[in-house]
Amino acid sequence: MSPFRLTRTLPEDAAGAALRADVRAGLTGSPKTLPPKWFYDARGSELFEEITALPEYYPTRAEREILLARSGEIAAASGARTLVELGSGSSEKTRHLIAALDGLHTYVPVDVSESALTGAGRALAAERPGLEVHALVADFTAELPLPDTPGPRLVAFLGGTIGNLLPAERAAFLASVRALLAPGDALLLGTDLVKDVRTLVRAYDDAAGVTAAFNKNVLHVVDRELGADFDPDAFDHVALWDAEREWIEMRLRSRVAQSVKIPALELVVDFAEGEELRTEVSAKFRREGVRAELSAAGLELSRWWTDGEGRFALSLSVAR
Ligand code: AVJ
Repeated sequence: MSPFRLTRTLPEDAAGAALRADVRAGLTGSPKTLPPKWFYDARGSELFEEITALPEYYPTRAEREILLARSGEIAAASGARTLVELGSGSSEKTRHLIAALDGLHTYVPVDVSESALTGAGRALAAERPGLEVHALVADFTAELPLPDTPGPRLVAFLGGTIGNLLPAERAAFLASVRALLAPGDALLLGTDLVKDVRTLVRAYDDAAGVTAAFNKNVLHVVDRELGADFDPDAFDHVALWDAEREWIEMRLRSRVAQSVKIPALELVVDFAEGEELRTEVSAKFRREGVRAELSAAGLELSRWWTDGEGRFALSLSVAR
């Protein structure tokens, strides 16, 4: 059995305070918005796992295909002794990479879900004796107190989750990742790519309605955590492609004129019939755009791999 440590960097009620601030800001603004990070309670995480298995939702399979084919190259190019994974979840896709990194000394999975970290940490410790696993319960968009471990360091941010950040948030996030790296250290980044609109929209509006349930789950979260009286069935799931900004937007459209009470915020929110609440953007990328955003953060794009159909990319960039 190899060493497993877990460090909590989030204060006790950090999540509660952040949710209240986000819901107040998002539902009193115009247009109304909610940040996508609140989808992921236990039910939301389960629904997301279901999404990744849907025939329409290609990104997870495409990224796994690349990781399976390229783990050896990624390992050789980075020579990492420390692997930090942001938003590691179940660490399922990372297994291949960890197996390929011969000289790996420490794996640092970072996630807001302590249960996911503990489960994945135990499994890995059993699979790879000698590997130190130092899990961090942390919000990766905030500052990360990384343990002092041997370099070179490789930071992995997979799944295309960077697409859920708005452009200014992405720039700040990439700069904070760069600050975790020494010159020569690397970032492995998963990005979904621009493609035909039909494929994109179907991936976010599946026939079985799983994505619709996932989208509405954020209303269940606000009901449970803040005592609100959202009726999720009074909203329709909307997925649309913004061609100018090259992102998918998920929205919830109010079927009727209605007022929603949010007691924990002493707030009443009015929706007009047909009014839409934005719950997620999922940006799609091109190689040149990724290169430019990385470069602005002090990271040099060095490798770019896609799946066979060119739907998704993994890039390796090196800190200047
Ligand atoms: C969390 C980035 C992988 O934006 O594609 C899936 C979340 N939203 N279906 C994405 C999501 C709707 C997903 N990622």
